Amino acid sequence: MPVLKADQKHYVEFTLNGKPAAGYAEPRMLLTDFLRKEIGLTGMHVACEHGVCGACTILIDGKTARGCLIFAVQVAGRKVDTVEGLAGDREDLTDLQLAFKKNHALQCGFCTPGILMSTAAFLEANPDPDEEDVRDMLSGHLCRCTGYTGMIRAVLEVAAARNSSR
Ligand code: FES
Ligand code: FES
Repeated sequence: MPVLKADQKHYVEFTLNGKPAAGYAEPRMLLTDFLRKEIGLTGMHVACEHGVCGACTILIDGKTARGCLIFAVQVAGRKVDTVEGLAGDREDLTDLQLAFKKNHALQCGFCTPGILMSTAAFLEANPDPDEEDVRDMLSGHLCRCTGYTGMIRAVLEVAAARNSSR
């Protein structure tokens, strides 16, 4: 990637939710601003902008990352997944989204996209978690509404359902 001056823009090409995507970003533009303002995907929320609350959690090359701690130029050539791509090409919600709905795991919904992305990656890596594992995963996210109980129920329910159908 060529070295540019601070006010010049990079052309950033990457894979977004399985499809090619591209846009312009100044060298210090955060990934949160790039995805929301340049690309137009607003599912990823932004609150603390310090890597603390988890609202901006997405996946980069399949691993959870905080969009507010990453420059847009750092995703050039990489795979980014956001909550908008969680259901893929299906018209309905995923089992995880449905379980959140059923278990009242969201209220205002501000924290939900980040938590869904963390949970999706968590269940890939830990298909048979216990409650302690789920609590540990959720400890990286701040939710001011729900008290987390519904989320824990939802995640355990999805893990159990997936395991019983294997
Ligand atoms: S906005 Fe990124 S962690 Fe809070
Ligand atoms: S549902 Fe409101 S912050 Fe979590």
